[in-house]
Amino acid sequence: MEPIVETPVCHPRRNRRGQAQGGRPASYAGDMSELITNIGELMTQDQDQGTRRNAAVVLEGERVAWIGDAVHAPAADTATDAHGRAVLPGWVDSHSHLIFAGDRTAEFEARMAGEGYTAGGIAVSVAATRAAGDYDLTRLALGRVAEAVAQGTTYLETKTGYGLDVEHEARSARIASTIADEATFLGAHLVPAGADADEYTELVCGEMLRAVRPFVKWADVFCETGAFTPEQSRRVLTACRDAGLGLRVHGNQLGPGAGAALAVEFGAASVDHVNYLTDDDVDRLAQSWSGWAGGTGDRGTVATVLPACDLSTRQPLAPARRLLDAGVQVAIASNCNPGTSYTSSVAFCVTTAVLQMGLSVHEAVRAATWGGALALHRETGADEDGRRAVGSIAVGHRADLHMLKAPSATHLAYRPGIPLTHAVWKAGVREA
Ligand code: NIG
Repeated sequence: MEPIVETPVCHPRRNRRGQAQGGRPASYAGDMSELITNIGELMTQDQDQGTRRNAAVVLEGERVAWIGDAVHAPAADTATDAHGRAVLPGWVDSHSHLIFAGDRTAEFEARMAGEGYTAGGIAVSVAATRAAGDYDLTRLALGRVAEAVAQGTTYLETKTGYGLDVEHEARSARIASTIADEATFLGAHLVPAGADADEYTELVCGEMLRAVRPFVKWADVFCETGAFTPEQSRRVLTACRDAGLGLRVHGNQLGPGAGAALAVEFGAASVDHVNYLTDDDVDRLAQSWSGWAGGTGDRGTVATVLPACDLSTRQPLAPARRLLDAGVQVAIASNCNPGTSYTSSVAFCVTTAVLQMGLSVHEAVRAATWGGALALHRETGADEDGRRAVGSIAVGHRADLHMLKAPSATHLAYRPGIPLTHAVWKAGVREA
């Protein structure tokens, strides 16, 4: 399909005699409405709605108000003609590290020349981040968010982890809470040079946790050789859980380890990276979903795969196909950070998941939208609770939409490397 220049047209709400147009969805607190019509493929990632052809959607304020066939579309305050383009939920990027300053190109070049990745590189970003002023750190992070939104991301988690002392972790948490939808405390990212690992772990679990607590919803720990041992990770997870934070784990990235098992044991929302999983790890993750049937019951631990990171560190790709086949819920995220994955392109990750990890286009898009929402406990909610679901398109969900310069989502994999974002709506507001 050749993209056609889009000409938004205004549909008057009333006819010439001042009578209300028929079929318009009931107004929601007087919000403005927008009809998006002639959608070639609407991949909702909602169980009931499925994937529709020749569809239309009405947005009203921040919510989705109507979904149906384009021929039956009601009138709205304004209208946008998709001219046959595809529409998906906006990407839900459930793993990023955007609060940093400095550059690690040299480390990347060394890796591409054959050196391995080690957690030690984090210290380079810590030094640059501590040296940056509040204004610069915020401006840099906001620039990365804008870059992500322009590529279709409409809901974003980000972490601390380049401060690594009380003052700078608290500052990173404060900035994270203002620039992202969800903020995560990752004081347990690396033991700073010269610090005793157990003493630093105590600091993370005590004074540092108290300082960041007002700003964050989640806590994370890098459970890996060269970062935090299983015992130190356990202490961090226990303290953060006791402080009321939801839990996430960086695990099994650089080798087999305890990360996935600890994540399941602590009921963490996700374990991220998961490059090196044993059969027992996969079984544990699958088992964690046994009480969850089709969207109800207890959530288990989502396995979040980070394909751009795997490529940039030359690690084996995470076994996303195997995880899905075992019944594990999978998310795909960018892991945008200066060390292992300096991209905010979730589309690139989706493309890689299809071309290299054996996922279908639908599975990969699902993991990068609904799966990300599940990993952040944001996959449910509609009009009744005021906390609208993200990551899928259904009535009452948040109006987060991503229109492609293509007739179907398949083009994300069929045309790798081509920037396919045509338009983005975040909470009903056109952002790109
Ligand atoms: O998710 N693995 C740990 N943390 C980041 C990388 C951090 C860095 O090297 O700066 C990650 O890949």
